[in-house]
Amino acid sequence: MGLIDEIGERLDALVRDLESSLQGARSDDDVRARAARIVGKKGELTALEKRIREVPPEDRRELGRRINEAKARADRIVEARLAALRAEARRRELEGPALDVTLPGRPRRIGSLHPVRQCEEELLDALQALGFEVADGPEIETTAFNFWKLGFAPDHPATCMQDSFYLRDDVLLRTHTSPIQVREMLSHPPPVRIAAPGTVYRRDDDVTHSPMFHQIEGLLVDEDVTFADMKGILTLFVRRVFGPDTPVRLRPSYFPFTEPSGEIDIGCLICSGRKVGCRVCKGTGWLEVGGCGMVHPVVFENVGYDPERFSGFAFGMGVDRIAMLRFGIGDIRLLYENDVRFLRQF
Ligand code: PHE
Repeated sequence: MGLIDEIGERLDALVRDLESSLQGARSDDDVRARAARIVGKKGELTALEKRIREVPPEDRRELGRRINEAKARADRIVEARLAALRAEARRRELEGPALDVTLPGRPRRIGSLHPVRQCEEELLDALQALGFEVADGPEIETTAFNFWKLGFAPDHPATCMQDSFYLRDDVLLRTHTSPIQVREMLSHPPPVRIAAPGTVYRRDDDVTHSPMFHQIEGLLVDEDVTFADMKGILTLFVRRVFGPDTPVRLRPSYFPFTEPSGEIDIGCLICSGRKVGCRVCKGTGWLEVGGCGMVHPVVFENVGYDPERFSGFAFGMGVDRIAMLRFGIGDIRLLYENDVRFLRQF
């Protein structure tokens, strides 16, 4: 038998070895490892290939052909085994137990509305029920809208650098939601009836004052609007929010953009007017929830409304303060610490 036939038989034997070895392979990696022992870089078939140098030149072409053919068969055997393993895995998956849909899922924690947002929504709901439409404005305001068009005097303490957060000489974080009144009236002819919620900023920081807090502004302008309309609407509004028997009182006050102006007080929610020893109302029986007043003619002039023809009222409420009263929260800073142990209670 010539050398070429001897090598040829070795090739055939190696392919047969590969075939039987692969029958025992249980995974893709196993298949590849077993194949490498024969057709890999250091495999037996590869070693045999090097013996091509030993055969006479005229036989090399034939040997080369046989080697290539053996390699191709080896490749087909490997591919076939891999395909068989895949098919087997699929069949086992189908025959195996079905997906267990009775396993309990992983619960997702669902958050809840922040107490300030809850109050804001309640207040807005009550105002919408009274026909007010929700409006808003930017938190970064010009001094023109935040102060001057509202009739603030240039030396009003709130306009001072030490009392407000200025970004530039004439731009600041709004100190109240009242500039939304100006924006609304400049962009709409009367009548207007808006409720405008918003975040506002002042240089304050203690148990009852946070540098960032929330207000809801109300504005109603039409012909023949009177102080009695204001008191009636505010009373309805307050009773919708705090209960039908809540006492309401207006106390004289001052704002540059309203005349006359008042503070809105409600009967103390904590002691219900019993007063003695109540720390929340400090024994007065009343709680202040906001400011209000009849829109000053100067404001109407600044926005191009005829003060002879139109009249109206405005009010502003502190949402954080109402949330604190409602939920019995003693320190406003708790609202902004983002401690879920605190927030989860509401
Ligand atoms: N803007 C006033 C404040 O922040 C509240 C207010 C609004 C008073 C509307 C009267 C009318 O103190």
